Amino acid sequence: MINELFAFYKPIIENRIDELLPESDAPYNEVVKASRYSLKLGGKRIRPIIMMEFCRLFGGDYKKVLDFAIALEMIHTYSLIHDDLPCMDNDDFRRGKPSCHKAFSEDMALLAGDALLTEAFNVAANADLDANVKVKAVATLSQMSGFSGMLGGQVIDLSFIKNSPDLDALCDMYARKTGCLLRAAAGIGATVGGASESDIKNADVFAEKVGLAFQIIDDILDVTADPELLGKPVGSDDKNQKTTFVSLLGLEGAKEEAKKLTDEALLILDGFNGNTENMKAITKYLLYRNF
Ligand code: IPE
Ligand code: IPE
Ligand code: MG
Ligand code: MG
Ligand code: MG
Repeated sequence: MINELFAFYKPIIENRIDELLPESDAPYNEVVKASRYSLKLGGKRIRPIIMMEFCRLFGGDYKKVLDFAIALEMIHTYSLIHDDLPCMDNDDFRRGKPSCHKAFSEDMALLAGDALLTEAFNVAANADLDANVKVKAVATLSQMSGFSGMLGGQVIDLSFIKNSPDLDALCDMYARKTGCLLRAAAGIGATVGGASESDIKNADVFAEKVGLAFQIIDDILDVTADPELLGKPVGSDDKNQKTTFVSLLGLEGAKEEAKKLTDEALLILDGFNGNTENMKAITKYLLYRNF
C-alpha cells in the first residue's frame, strides 16, 4: 500500500516543482540550478505527502494543498542544504549525491538555501486558496520554520556540542528541528481539508509524536544504515560529537522509544472519522524505514 501511495503522490510533487521552479536564461540562473539540484535529488517527500493525505483524510481535495506542500518541501530542502555546510554538520552527501556545496560551491549553497526559503513563501502566497485559510497556513509555515521552530532547533542542536543535553532537553530540540515541519504538514493539511478545531489539535499531537519518532529513527540510521541506501553519510553524529537518542539510550532503548511514540500516534489516528488507512501505512513505514 505504501508503495502505491508514493507512486501516486511523487510524480504530482515532481511535476509541480518543475512548473513552479523552472530554469531560465536569467543571469541569476546559477542559483535556480543549485536550488533545483537539491530539491530534485529526490528524498522521501514525506512532509508534502503527509500534508496532502491529511487534507484528503478530512474531506478536502489534495490538490488544494499541493502548493503549500511544495513550499514546505522547499523549506525542508533549504534546511538540509544549510545543515550540510562545513560550518554546520559538514556532510558531503545528501540524497545519494554530492551535497549542494560540493556540487556547486559554498556561496551558491548558502544562496540556494536562502532562495528556497524565500521562494517558498512566494509559492505559498500565490496558492489558490480562500484568503483567510491561506493567511493562517502561511503563519503556520513561518512559525514552524522560524525562531521557535526548525531554525531554533538547529540553533539548540549546535549549542549541544559544548553542553551535553539530558533526555528532556534533547526531546525539546528534536521537537523543534524535526517535529515542527511535520506539524506544519499535518496542521496545514488538516486546516485546508476542513477539519474541526479539535481534529486540527489532534493532528498536531500526532505530528509531534511522529516528528520525535522520525528524528530518533534518523539517529538510529546514522549508526546502523548502509550509506549507499541512506544517501547521506553514516557516523555524522559521532563525527560531530552529537548527543543523540542512541548515545543516551543505546540502540535498543532508542528503538523502543520510537516504537512507543509510533503506537501512540497510531492511536490518535483511530480517533478520526475519515479513512486513516493511508496515514497509518505512512506512520508505520516511517518506523521501519531504512533510509
Ligand atoms: C532529514 O529528513 C532531516 C531530518 C529532519 C532528520 P528526511 O529524512 O525527510 O530527508 P529526505 O527529504 O528524505 O532527504
Ligand atoms: C537535521 O538533523 C534536521 C534539520 C532541520 C535539517 P540532522 O542533522 O540529524 O539531519 P541529517 O541526518 O543531516 O539529515
Ligand atoms: Mg544537523
Ligand atoms: Mg545533518
Ligand atoms: Mg541525522
